[in-house]
Amino acid sequence: MQIDLEALKAAIADDRENGLLPACVVGAAGTTNTAAIDDLNALADICAAERCWFHVDGASGAWTAIAPRYRHLVAGMERADSLAFDLHKWMYLQYPIACILVRNADDHRRAFSLTPTYLAHGEGERGLTGIDVPWLSDYGFELSRGFHALKAWMTFKEHGVAKYGRIIQQNIDQAHYLAGLVASAPGLELALPVSLNIVNFRYVRPGLTDAELNGLNKRIETELQERGIAVPSTVTIRGRNYLHVAITNHRSRQEDFDLLVHEVIRIGNERD
Ligand SMILES: Cc1ncc(COP(=O)(O)O)c(C=O)c1O
Repeated sequence: MQIDLEALKAAIADDRENGLLPACVVGAAGTTNTAAIDDLNALADICAAERCWFHVDGASGAWTAIAPRYRHLVAGMERADSLAFDLHKWMYLQYPIACILVRNADDHRRAFSLTPTYLAHGEGERGLTGIDVPWLSDYGFELSRGFHALKAWMTFKEHGVAKYGRIIQQNIDQAHYLAGLVASAPGLELALPVSLNIVNFRYVRPGLTDAELNGLNKRIETELQERGIAVPSTVTIRGRNYLHVAITNHRSRQEDFDLLVHEVIRIGNERD
């Protein structure tokens, strides 16, 4: 479930042959459905060789970089020209707090800076507009902005990065724990090996077709939610519905996953 590097190189070559200018490659540090991670170092090498912008979508997975035992999984992310990541997905903060880092401030400003007369600044030496500070309106689409940054700053000040690294690590450990429970439970099937903090699995019963299993797993999802047991969603991978467990809660405990597996099997068996 990673970018096929040879196909990428072929697509870039093909574009150039056809007079197109490949400008940007986007690597994933944790995809939405499966938390798949691309080979980010290899993508950075290709971008350097091809003079392409290297963007990394780390909306949910970028925080792996602060987990001491797992940070190697996103190696190469630090070579990106730009990196997007959210603190409302896997940093335990309230929505909205989406962030982007752009390596080169001049590139960033040139891409967004429009200076209508009412925003003129940096001209002359006097008055407020003469003060040489960056204007945030030069770094994005918004002119007026919400004050979202304080909650991130306060959070890191209060708890420190190391503590968050341990909790991120705990969530990944819990994903492996849940995957282990699924692998050893008769009647459950894992979609893919666990990559980060996401586990996709389904209830299976011999004799049922994939279409029937899809309906059954959707019903299990609804029952889990309506009975107040857990709140998974479902995803479709290669035509099959799987229960989708994205572990992003600092309060999750091992027994929550024991209960989840027990209840999935119980609800699945109820349908006889
Ligand atoms: C991999 C990935 N990229 C981007 C997004 C969009 O994120 P945002 O909440 O910042 O709009 C999501 C949201 O699910 C995501 O999973």
